[in-house]
Amino acid sequence: MVLLNGQALAKHKEEILQEEVARLGMAPVLAVVLVGDNPASQLYVQMKARACARVGITCQIQRLGESTPQSELLEILRTLNHDSQVHGILVQLPLPAHMDTREILEAIDPSKDVDGFHPLNVGRVYSDSLLRGFLPATAMGVMQLLEHYQVPIRGQDVVIVGASNIIGKPLASLMLNAGASVSVCHILTKDLRMYTQKADIVCVGVGKPGLIGPDLLKEGAVVVDIGISKQGDKVVGDVDFEAVHHKVSYITPVPGGVGPMTISALLQNTLLAAQSSLLERSC
Ligand code: GUN
Repeated sequence: MVLLNGQALAKHKEEILQEEVARLGMAPVLAVVLVGDNPASQLYVQMKARACARVGITCQIQRLGESTPQSELLEILRTLNHDSQVHGILVQLPLPAHMDTREILEAIDPSKDVDGFHPLNVGRVYSDSLLRGFLPATAMGVMQLLEHYQVPIRGQDVVIVGASNIIGKPLASLMLNAGASVSVCHILTKDLRMYTQKADIVCVGVGKPGLIGPDLLKEGAVVVDIGISKQGDKVVGDVDFEAVHHKVSYITPVPGGVGPMTISALLQNTLLAAQSSLLERSC
């Protein structure tokens, strides 16, 4: 069994990003908007801000109250879209229930959409466009981790458990573009085991600790755990690591697997946004 060490790879990627930021001659600026006081979101935003600081990206966080009207958030996004000093914009999800997430994400300028959630960027990923938009950070991080460890994807049977716009759907597109046969399972899937037991690669991110045990996997499967839940003081994934690690060929730990890769992918997108805006201004 080989551990897919996202922590170490992300650290290495950050060193390269730090050098590239220094070469750019200015600090890229990432504007983060956090609405409400969801504790997990607060923690994620804090982790993103710290990672930005490590590589020389300026992270400007705007914190809005839970009951902020949607119109106010839209106005903030309009201002950020027009601010030439801001290169990347990220609205932390989930948003409060009174907001229309789709409308908010569509209000972000696609050239600053470092999350890759705007329909234009989603479409570019889906159609494997040469005009590569921003890839959603988690899916990008998973692909980079597998590529680094030279895990073959072309021709492999991949099962993704979780069909969210943030993780499952973009990951399915990237896997398909890389030549895998892809099945996407979700809460309504009748027989999860029927899919996972034959899969060469199982990626799971639904926030259900212990969902994937040894009975659901074939011998030598590759397991990518994107789940993140709190059990007491411990952070755990969706895979029963202790029970499956003897059976698999590669597996991500939680923490220290996909999480750090997600953050370094966001930094990479922010640098790309800054590089593109400089290039545009010089033309
Ligand atoms: N909430 C959980 N994951 C993400 C993410 O990748 N981006 C944003 N904006 N919100 C999230």
